[in-house]
Amino acid sequence: MDQSYVRIFDTTLRDGEQSPGASMTSAEKLEVARALARLGVDVIEAGFPAASPDDLEAVRRVAVEVGNPPAGADPEARVPIICGLARATKNDIDKAWEAVRHARHPRIHTFLATSDIHMQYKLRMSRDQVMETVGDMVAYARSLCPDVEFSPEDAGRSNPEFLYQVLAIAIQAGATTLNIPDTVGYTVPEEFGALIAGIIKNTPGVQNCIVSTHCHNDLGLATANTLAGIRAGARQAEVTINGIGERAGNTSLEEVVMSLKTRHPIYNLNTGVDTTQIARASKMVSNYTGIIVQPNKAIVGANAFAHEAGIHQDGMLKNQQTYEIMHPETVGVTQSRLVLGKHSGRHALKVRLNQLGYNLSDEDLMKAFRRFKDLADKKKMITDADLEALVSDEVYQPQEIFSLDGLQVACGTMGLPTATVRMRGPDGQLHIQAAVGTGPVDATYKAIDAVVQSPAVLLEFAVHAITEGIDALGEVTVRIQSCDGDSKLDAQHEVSVARTFGGHGADTDIIVASAKAYLSALNKYLVAKGAESEKVTEQ
Ligand code: KIV
Ligand code: ZN
Repeated sequence: MDQSYVRIFDTTLRDGEQSPGASMTSAEKLEVARALARLGVDVIEAGFPAASPDDLEAVRRVAVEVGNPPAGADPEARVPIICGLARATKNDIDKAWEAVRHARHPRIHTFLATSDIHMQYKLRMSRDQVMETVGDMVAYARSLCPDVEFSPEDAGRSNPEFLYQVLAIAIQAGATTLNIPDTVGYTVPEEFGALIAGIIKNTPGVQNCIVSTHCHNDLGLATANTLAGIRAGARQAEVTINGIGERAGNTSLEEVVMSLKTRHPIYNLNTGVDTTQIARASKMVSNYTGIIVQPNKAIVGANAFAHEAGIHQDGMLKNQQTYEIMHPETVGVTQSRLVLGKHSGRHALKVRLNQLGYNLSDEDLMKAFRRFKDLADKKKMITDADLEALVSDEVYQPQEIFSLDGLQVACGTMGLPTATVRMRGPDGQLHIQAAVGTGPVDATYKAIDAVVQSPAVLLEFAVHAITEGIDALGEVTVRIQSCDGDSKLDAQHEVSVARTFGGHGADTDIIVASAKAYLSALNKYLVAKGAESEKVTEQ
């Protein structure tokens, strides 16, 4: 085992998707999995297959399409391990195996809580029962899959001696990775590092396994705890893009990977991540989930490489290293610069998009080109950031059930804000509706609701300018919750939680961008609802 290599286990599609509002469609999950494979993560936890047939199918698609080299590629090409989560029950383990078995390297990840509070109140199991179940279920998972990960949930608050015993049982039953979760984000770095060191020192058979960290960010310490765990000997880190996840989130991939890279002389450890793909993956996850990245977020926030203070700008001009510990290009942040203009052709657009890492199909390129021409008529300078927003707005959208065909808004200080929308429905017909509201966005959303007839509650609405200047492209991100009690099973809490959907839209007119964002979230919801009702009719 190479002791200088830290495996990056990404759980954006499982623990990340479990966070309120982060629901993604199956197609979006596949795109994110592809982005994770391009990043070079070692393991993709693609979901919790027992949650629903949809979740199982989404994990299966990732296993088939991302867990194997693409057709025509070098058959020896490196592909990530595809992992499915399972509670410690035969049914969950069977479902996880059914979902991941088509991957070249499948993994089953099973878990059971070991803290007194979880065993007493949540599981209602004694220590003996927990030990017996862990032995039985890890052995069962291992009888199906050669790669089995076991997690003692709430390890951060578990009795260390009991933890060593449970982990030893898991190893004997065939676990190959032991993941140590700080489920509630309670520990501090010295403590979490000591916990990992104690496990490595005191658990019989541990030398044949990979020890892993899984930290939550309730005290803002997830990255610090993960790094402390790595220093103590953990060689796998469980992380998510942008740090999304339950409550305050999980450890963020970009923070751990860039800490190990930027402070290499301290850690002397490597990962297989191509860091230049980080910015793009971050943007994709934010667009798909509707979870906005805070501007001052380390590595991927909009201000992470911005230098506002005059004294900083002066230093930067003299020598970049005065205030910059990483080059923005290292994480894939390209300088916003003039790239293309009104007279640029399709080929020039394709070349620039390729340079930015987008390999679009002919059909998607055509769509992007139409939008580009449209934008070039309105905006003189088109930058890389504009192009990226345009591609994600035009290409990475859910299946269109309803599409916006026209929008007219009247607002201001005189009269009531009024919006009229013209939309094409699934029947191919045009529908026109008008509505008044408290403002132009409210009026637009009410008019859209009148057409779609599947009203939703708007949980979050945010708008930001992609580039500077009065003609900037505005990007809107929304999160909605359906009003008809739609819900999904949550693995750890064993309860159904209301499903929320994110959407995004970009346009030089922010009311149009707002309408597109709302429609993209509604379309996602309608696709999910359609899939559910198909299942009901089949039964
Ligand atoms: O936080 C946690 O304990 C988990 C486990 C399922 C690994 O997500
Ligand atoms: Zn977790």
